[in-house]
Amino acid sequence: MKANHVQDRTALSGKLISVLNSRSLERTHPRLAGMLLPGLSVLDVGCGTGAITRGIAEAVGPSGHVVGMDANPQLIEQARQMHGSVPNLTFQVGDIYHLDYKEAFDLVTCARLLVWLSDPMGALMSMMEET
Ligand SMILES: C[S@@+](CC[C@H](N)C(=O)[O-])C[C@H]1O[C@@H](n2cnc3c(N)ncnc32)[C@H](O)[C@@H]1O
Repeated sequence: MKANHVQDRTALSGKLISVLNSRSLERTHPRLAGMLLPGLSVLDVGCGTGAITRGIAEAVGPSGHVVGMDANPQLIEQARQMHGSVPNLTFQVGDIYHLDYKEAFDLVTCARLLVWLSDPMGALMSMMEET
């Protein structure tokens, strides 16, 4: 997917941001919540404003490490402003089709992203390469 196409698809509105901010790990990603253990490293792809990602970081604790990634720089900026003080949590701009982390994560997750993509299988393959 071309970068400008990604930008179009992720165009922001205040309503979208307030919906994303209302998410939580336990309520809106409960299956993942049940899998997390202290010390895990986790990549959350399409993290939006990072509400779920923060919950992941709290669940894995200080011995764990969490990266939230999203194609939309404005959402990543919001995520940094709201959750940047969590020590084991960082946020980065990126594209699910071009993941290139130089580390292997214990777990790579996404919530409410694949359904929006033109090539969800390609995106899943890309995620698998990061574990
Ligand atoms: C419906 S939101 C879900 C956000 C969050 N995971 C949640 O459950 O609240 C989908 C997110 O995927 C991001 N996104 C869309 N295309 C993407 C891509 N190609 N790579 C990474 N993120 C993408 C959007 O910017 C948006 O933040």
